[in-house]
Amino acid sequence: MRVIRQPGVMQRLARRWQREGVRIGFVPTMGYLHEGHLSLVQVARRAVGRSGRVVVSIYVNPTQFGPGEDLDRYPRDLPRDLRLCREAGVDVVFAPDDQSMYPGLPEGRYSTYVVEEQLSRSMEGAARPGHFRGVTTVVAKLFHLVLPDVAVFGAKDWQQAAVIRRMVDNLNFPVRILVAPTVREPDGLAMSSRNAYLNPDERRQATVLFEAIQLARQKVRSGPKPARQLKQDVARLVASRPRARLDYVEFFDSDTLEPVPQVRPGTHMALAVFVGNTRLIDNAKL
Ligand code: PAJ
Repeated sequence: MRVIRQPGVMQRLARRWQREGVRIGFVPTMGYLHEGHLSLVQVARRAVGRSGRVVVSIYVNPTQFGPGEDLDRYPRDLPRDLRLCREAGVDVVFAPDDQSMYPGLPEGRYSTYVVEEQLSRSMEGAARPGHFRGVTTVVAKLFHLVLPDVAVFGAKDWQQAAVIRRMVDNLNFPVRILVAPTVREPDGLAMSSRNAYLNPDERRQATVLFEAIQLARQKVRSGPKPARQLKQDVARLVASRPRARLDYVEFFDSDTLEPVPQVRPGTHMALAVFVGNTRLIDNAKL
């Protein structure tokens, strides 16, 4: 496994693979890898086959964090991540630094951003202004450096995957986007690098996100329910955990992300909850 730190070196290698007809599968991450990330690596490997190359990027992208968010304390462990990637059969880890990705940021000569203006507005986009601008910008940059035929994203960040799909379609990136299922802990908590922030008490209460999904699922089994009513049910459940505070819960169409007034099996649900100071998200098709 090769570790590349310079964007120019990554791009030259990708161009050589492209000339040679080698298929490239790509998994962008911010590192502190867990089984959710590694499941995306397996999907990428299956997509490009043994003769293809799988690239994982590890880069904590500063432009997708808002002021006062957790950029400075985002968990990092590159040696462990490299070991996990090697064991998972990754060919190249691309781990650039801030100065090579955004020369001179904030005041220097970095001044170009990619902005998706429709799917980015609700939910995570409303709660975290500028977040998706940072995500689409860094993913567009990474796509230009890795030149993937296939890129794999997790359903855990459903809105992010929808925004990336839209960007790729709108800007004619020659890449196929695959979305892999959310990997969960045995008690239902979606795996996330941010779970490392939780103390034992918070970790126990963090199951409330998955419980909220199950509650909504169970309520719509007997017939459609008004979104308004289900939001109240979810708010009550979250409020019953002393360390938990609901940020938002939405019910929407899986593809368009348009909110729906009536919730039925097949409607998509997403929520964000603060557990202590840690902000967690989850979603599922009901
Ligand atoms: P990060 O949070 O590290 O996630 C990297 C990829 O792993 C994303 O596609 C995410 O949806 C997926 N993922 C995370 N937890 C998962 C889980 N439990 N099950 C399945 N997939 C999971 O998302 C980002 O980084 C960044 O925004 C990035 C796309 C890398 C741009 O900076």
